[in-house]
Amino acid sequence: MSGDILLDAKGVSKRFGGLKALSDVSVTQRRGELIGMIGPNGSGKSTFVNVVTGALRRDTGEIRLDGLDLGALPQHKMARAGIARTFQAVRIFETLTVRDNVLNGLLGHAVSTTEGEERMAAALARVGLKVDPDASASGLGLYDRRRLEFATRLVARPKLIMLDEPVGGLNPEEIRAMIALIQSLRQEFGIFIIEHTMKVITSLADRVVVLVNGNKLMDDTPQAVLKDKAVIETYLGTGHA
Ligand SMILES: Nc1ncnc2c1ncn2[C@@H]1O[C@H](COP(=O)(O)OP(=O)(O)OP(=O)(O)O)[C@@H](O)[C@H]1O
Ligand SMILES: [Mg+2]
Repeated sequence: MSGDILLDAKGVSKRFGGLKALSDVSVTQRRGELIGMIGPNGSGKSTFVNVVTGALRRDTGEIRLDGLDLGALPQHKMARAGIARTFQAVRIFETLTVRDNVLNGLLGHAVSTTEGEERMAAALARVGLKVDPDASASGLGLYDRRRLEFATRLVARPKLIMLDEPVGGLNPEEIRAMIALIQSLRQEFGIFIIEHTMKVITSLADRVVVLVNGNKLMDDTPQAVLKDKAVIETYLGTGHA
């Protein structure tokens, strides 16, 4: 029984040689809650997502998604279990068409060709990507690439999608559009966002987890986090407050 807890990560640690990238980090995400994660460069944010989604093995800790022990699953079973992520540097298949990129997101899911086509079209519509599905993904600009990558995950209908810096490299107008897009999806999907752009965090997050040197420094509302002296000093610097 998982009740209203969607993601329950307890005491997660990960070391790279002598470097402790994550030290005993615990994060609980309730159903319907959107969590933002912030922290300086190299503080362990992407490592947290890598470990939770099974891209890296954790050294210690327990990770449950909707009650299911993810630590017990091989990585290829993660998507079926309902967890998905996007990458800080977008990962799409450049040589494939937009359609095939999205259909690729259904690999391992038992879906008929007809249903796959319907879900592919629905996912593209959902992210507002109005391009020819038969066009090559290589022709897309960065915002469209980010939306395409998003569609390749949404098509599998994950319970939780972890977005690693979803507005990285986007201009202010595109950032506003991405915020609106994420806002429109949050009723349907659990969403966890790593971001440096405070506007994304303050517009979307119900709770913010602050990582510093692999340790959880704070876990509170965006308002409380942005007022915290330690956060302002270690992360935002004086100019930001
Ligand atoms: N696969 C890896 N092998 C060795 N060291 C790694 C690996 N992945 C991350 N690290 C190191 O672990 C630390 C945390 O990196 P991580 O990428 O998680 O930081 P981050 O908070 O996502 O930073 P950024 O804001 O720059 O994306 C860094 O010192 C990084 O160099
Ligand atoms: Mg990162």
